[in-house]
Amino acid sequence: MQNAAMTQDAPTTRKGPADWYAGGLPHIWLPYAQMKTMTAPLPVARTDGCRIILADGRELIDGIASWWTACHGYNHPHIREALVRQAEVMPHVMFGGLVHEPALHLARRLVALLPGGLERVFFSESGSVAVEIALKMAVQFWRNQGRERTRLVTFRGAYHGDTAGAVALGDPQDSMHGGFKGLPTVHICVDLPTDEPTTEALRDTLERHAETLAGIIVEPLVQGAGGMRFHDAVVLRRLRELADRYDLLLIFDEIFTGFGRTGTMFGCEAAGVVPDIVTLSKALTGGTLPLAATVASRRVFEAFWSDDPRHALTHGPTYMANALACAAANASLDLFAREPRLKQVRAISAQLARGLAPCRGLPRVKEVRVKGAIGVVELDRIDDLDALRGRFIDEGVFVRPFGSVVYLTPAFTIGEEELGALTAAVVKVVGGLSGG
Ligand SMILES: Cc1ncc(COP(=O)(O)O)c(C=O)c1O
Repeated sequence: MQNAAMTQDAPTTRKGPADWYAGGLPHIWLPYAQMKTMTAPLPVARTDGCRIILADGRELIDGIASWWTACHGYNHPHIREALVRQAEVMPHVMFGGLVHEPALHLARRLVALLPGGLERVFFSESGSVAVEIALKMAVQFWRNQGRERTRLVTFRGAYHGDTAGAVALGDPQDSMHGGFKGLPTVHICVDLPTDEPTTEALRDTLERHAETLAGIIVEPLVQGAGGMRFHDAVVLRRLRELADRYDLLLIFDEIFTGFGRTGTMFGCEAAGVVPDIVTLSKALTGGTLPLAATVASRRVFEAFWSDDPRHALTHGPTYMANALACAAANASLDLFAREPRLKQVRAISAQLARGLAPCRGLPRVKEVRVKGAIGVVELDRIDDLDALRGRFIDEGVFVRPFGSVVYLTPAFTIGEEELGALTAAVVKVVGGLSGG
């Protein structure tokens, strides 16, 4: 159904949903959407495992896991029980001057999971904010030592979030934030050092600008929302070497890659590289509540440890370390500890590779690639994104292409049959696109 439900004063009723849909929709503003022309959003009644159940009774197999957060599937009983318990004791208390068990327990567990040296956790409530905090940490790290180094090196194809500071770290040309080109971009955006010429170019940039640079920020192994592009672990080792040589902080934005998505618990683990700062969010709470963490190394933290109050990190979100969210995250980590999630990722990876292989050779397909539990079919272009998304719904699956990619990032708990239905739908829908 096109447009009708999005008009300002004449909401359309759909088959199934109750008044909440027709009455509320005219007052909602949706993300990354041209509200006038977009296809009306689907009313969801509930979720269950890897299924999204619509208000009209239709069930969709979910290929995205809610922007890759719901790694254990929806409504996992262990997380639900932890939430109910925490809600009875204390849903939230401010984190200024106060601390609580779920947050401290979680901080300790995250530090134990991350590679050695990353040991101070600063909580916030979204990935973009975690990136903002990493940026401020990096700048203030130098300022506290009497040095003015305010810019970061970022990479073409990068995406680090939607807030203004995070937007400035994304690719200024080829990204969904191209419309913000006018915003001041104080950072330097270069190609990822994937080969000799790009490594040389990066070295040259560092040679010329190191004095003004605070650090380098990268999404390890996968540039996600910027196009689902993969790179090898060797790139990350190169970045560590260059950061050391030019005395720069290395920041890994693991908001997408953290918690198993690429096959190891964190991307930095696969590379055998320890960054100075890591950002985490998304699957941290198993897709239940917003929570993020910016984790700093001892070296970074020590630059803030001082008798001078001006050396303190100047940040403090109201809902920082929300107790319910921390309880959910602890329950999610229990599941990683007790269930074979990484083994499931390996099985998903193999099945994605098999299931998406028939896309190779289809008229519009440029590349098929798989890393961990991420399957990508890159097309030459997508002319009508809304129509393509609609075709997936008609197939009974929720798959949401963007840019020129069709991708799958399912829950790690997805069954073989459900995953088979997802890959078959991708092959069928992509196969139905006319060439040219
Ligand atoms: C690598 C990366 N960084 C940051 C963000 C922003 O996170 P959020 O949407 O929670 O602000 C995202 C979201 O997709 C991401 O993939």
